[in-house]
Amino acid sequence: MNIGIFDSGIGGMTLLHQAMLMMPREKYIFYADTDHVPYGTKSREQVISYVDAVIRFMADHDCKAVVIACNTATAVAAEQMRRKYVGLPIIGIEPAVKPAVAESEGKRVLVVATPLTVHEKKLQNLVKRVDDEHLVDLLELPCLVRFAERGEFVSDEVTAYLEKQLSAFDLEKYGELVLGCTHFNFFKDTFRKLMPPGTHMIDGSQGTVRQLMRILGEKGALADRDADECLRWEAYKNDISVRYFESGREILDADRLNMFHNLHERLEKMRCL
Ligand code: DGL
Repeated sequence: MNIGIFDSGIGGMTLLHQAMLMMPREKYIFYADTDHVPYGTKSREQVISYVDAVIRFMADHDCKAVVIACNTATAVAAEQMRRKYVGLPIIGIEPAVKPAVAESEGKRVLVVATPLTVHEKKLQNLVKRVDDEHLVDLLELPCLVRFAERGEFVSDEVTAYLEKQLSAFDLEKYGELVLGCTHFNFFKDTFRKLMPPGTHMIDGSQGTVRQLMRILGEKGALADRDADECLRWEAYKNDISVRYFESGREILDADRLNMFHNLHERLEKMRCL
């Protein structure tokens, strides 16, 4: 059986990449809902209906678990979908606020995400729960999703946009940057340049894959019995089974598939920053 991983667009590749590193023997279906990207500036109701259609697709494609590789979709739709698709494990990514606060050693924590995630109760409640010392600030960065979808990861426009958005904060006070949207991992090199040296960047992908492994393990449904935490991308990358879909249409064209392979290479570079 397959593991289904989806997002509004290429951001979900962050999760797919991490899962492939930690579970190279699984079979994956990756689904980018490109007809509806971005999710983060839409209404809750719209996003819930898109997510519902994707999970139905995954259920019809022999998936033993579905990962919502989108912080926005998790925030608005995960609980409702779990109630609807009983028996199908649905795991959702969330901004890694808790570990960031735990590691911050008194420095401030900046959480960057989409507008919908920032305004959702789920994130606000999470911050309330873990942020006793009021160290956490939230910032919406909707344009990064647009840049990512057109493959513009490093440019003067990207730098100028981030510089402008970050200028509202006294960055020297920050020790943690939480990437609360899966699209944002593609921009880690620019974030690294703009944040003070030593800033720790964290996202929820590793924790989400661990949770996925735990759930599949409990059901005896793991293809990889021991997690390969040594993360040897070069050794495995050509042998892992992945089918790519855009809003339900399978990508079979060599040029398009090559684009996905290039995105993995970029993510692999970003992972090490
Ligand atoms: N990548 C998604 C997230 O993690 C959402 C991007 C969007 O479609 O706005 O929130």
